[in-house]
Amino acid sequence: MFEITNLHASIEDTEILKGVDLTIHKGEIHALMGPNGSGKSTLANVIAGHPAYEVTEGTILFNGEDILEMEPDERAQLGIFLAFQYPTVIPGVSMANFLRMAVTNVRNARAEREAGDGEAKKMTPREFRKLMREKMQVLHMDESFATRYLNEGFSGGEKKRAEILQMALLEPTMAILDETDSGLDIDALRVVSEGVNALANDEMGVLLITHYQRLLNHIKPHFVHIMMDGRVVQSGGPELAHELEAKGYEKLRAEVAATA
Ligand SMILES: Nc1ncnc2c1ncn2[C@@H]1O[C@H](COP(=O)(O)OP(=O)(O)O)[C@@H](O)[C@H]1O
Ligand SMILES: [Mg+2]
Repeated sequence: MFEITNLHASIEDTEILKGVDLTIHKGEIHALMGPNGSGKSTLANVIAGHPAYEVTEGTILFNGEDILEMEPDERAQLGIFLAFQYPTVIPGVSMANFLRMAVTNVRNARAEREAGDGEAKKMTPREFRKLMREKMQVLHMDESFATRYLNEGFSGGEKKRAEILQMALLEPTMAILDETDSGLDIDALRVVSEGVNALANDEMGVLLITHYQRLLNHIKPHFVHIMMDGRVVQSGGPELAHELEAKGYEKLRAEVAATA
């Protein structure tokens, strides 16, 4: 369903991705691990279509279609989800309003694409509110969260709650979660793991990017990949994450170098 082949990408003429190969099928959870600076976030950004990165070689096929020629919003309409970081506070915009704008835009465009020449079924504000209530129940989120103003004094866990709720509402076919290497406190860890476990389904692929093995105590990936210096250098099952935890990246790096 989702196939990355020999992907090379640069930023400001520095090559960061140096030939990434990765295939994800529907219903599979993949964990992508690797040391700081190995290119994990770059890969997530390139998949989403971040304009700062230049793809110099390789393909990303999504259901057989090359997405590299598509704008970021077209990719989102196809069902590719990368939780966007919103570092700024938007004054006076509640979580519910923000999500309604962001989510109905994508869902309506998707409905139009699927309708072709026929009439697309657009989501009304009332339908959105109903969907949001349903999703918040599934995720055991308190309804008051929807009335909070965006990012105003959000804790790490609340930022993750916003991200997971956004994912639930978009119902993506390919979800990419990039967990920053520094900040997953216990609450945030719980939100992400419970959210992914509640939302994972047979129709969705998940790429979970994480520096630490800790998150994988709570989410069971089907596959684990190790990224180093812009390439996926090793792939395996969940045992690979435990091996990594025991050995550390440096030992693994030396082993990879020895066999290269
Ligand atoms: N905007 C940028 N400009 C220049 N170099 C960058 C930029 N973003 C990332 N890099 C470099 O790309 C490399 C990979 O970064 P990143 O993808 O963030 O790694 P990871 O997420 O695995 O920690 C790092 O060496 C980083 O310094
Ligand atoms: Mg990163």
